[in-house]
Amino acid sequence: QQVSIIRVPFGLGAGRSGAQYGPESIMQAGLKRRLEQSGVNISSEFDISCPTQPAAVIDPKARYLPEVLEVSRRLADQVGRVVSSGIFPLVLGGDHSIAMGSIAGLTSVWPKLGVIWFDAHSDLNTITTSPSGNVHGMSLAAALGWTEWRISDKQGQYQPVNPKNVVIIGARDLDPGEKDFIRKQGIACYTMHEIDRMGIEAVMQQAVQIAGKDTDGVHLSFDIDSVDPIEAPGTGTPVRGGVSYREAHFALELLSESGCITSADVVEVNPTLDTHQQTSKLAMELICSLLGERIL
Ligand code: ARG
Ligand code: MN
Ligand code: MN
Ligand code: MN
Repeated sequence: QQVSIIRVPFGLGAGRSGAQYGPESIMQAGLKRRLEQSGVNISSEFDISCPTQPAAVIDPKARYLPEVLEVSRRLADQVGRVVSSGIFPLVLGGDHSIAMGSIAGLTSVWPKLGVIWFDAHSDLNTITTSPSGNVHGMSLAAALGWTEWRISDKQGQYQPVNPKNVVIIGARDLDPGEKDFIRKQGIACYTMHEIDRMGIEAVMQQAVQIAGKDTDGVHLSFDIDSVDPIEAPGTGTPVRGGVSYREAHFALELLSESGCITSADVVEVNPTLDTHQQTSKLAMELICSLLGERIL
């Protein structure tokens, strides 16, 4: 397995500062050595340059949107180049707004893309429905083409993801507008209730079916706040009652076994809110499970 690590030190999409330090802290947890021990070949590494200060006045309804879109375009181009050369892009965030860039880059190469969105939230707000104005809560809506703006790569290409191939897993904090979208558009959403009822293994089997049906590739967008804050305190919008340490690992081990995942981003690690780097270390370990590491 050839992997390219793409670091995106961007945090302006979140309501609290700190996610911009995520990539460096996941690397410092020992990601490269541990991946190499599992036989993963890291063929290249990239750093996307990210603004840290606003260029224009801040719109309270979509804070730092111009900066988010600039980073998205740069990331889309890099992800597009990586997948075109047959390599798995592993994108390290950064807040969840960066997923817009990953997905735009992927759909420029694979028009039919499945998405597995692991998150305590659904990130399906628009400028109209968002209670916070934080763009990281709008990134899945943007990928589906439902926001007031369109994301595109440098060539101006834009391909919305088909809602039939989107699966949300781990949700437990949904805003009213997001619930409406999920119901009306029939998006598959395995909330914590379904995980409790069915077990994580059955959920993952169904997720692979839905995201993989007639698609060219499947992207995993993993928000670390999907995991319970007991295990993952270092994140900007923690919500209690999340997936356990083992459920998270098992889910990613199952995705690895399925062989269907062709790209991933790991986002919302905020080292400034972490204790003993446990959240960064967890993110590192989960990436290893996704990319084939096994206990025995
Ligand atoms: N739904 C809330 C909002 O729109 C929280 C979003 C949190 N998103 C995230 N990627 N952590 O502001
Ligand atoms: Mn998210
Ligand atoms: Mn979240
Ligand atoms: Mn909320």
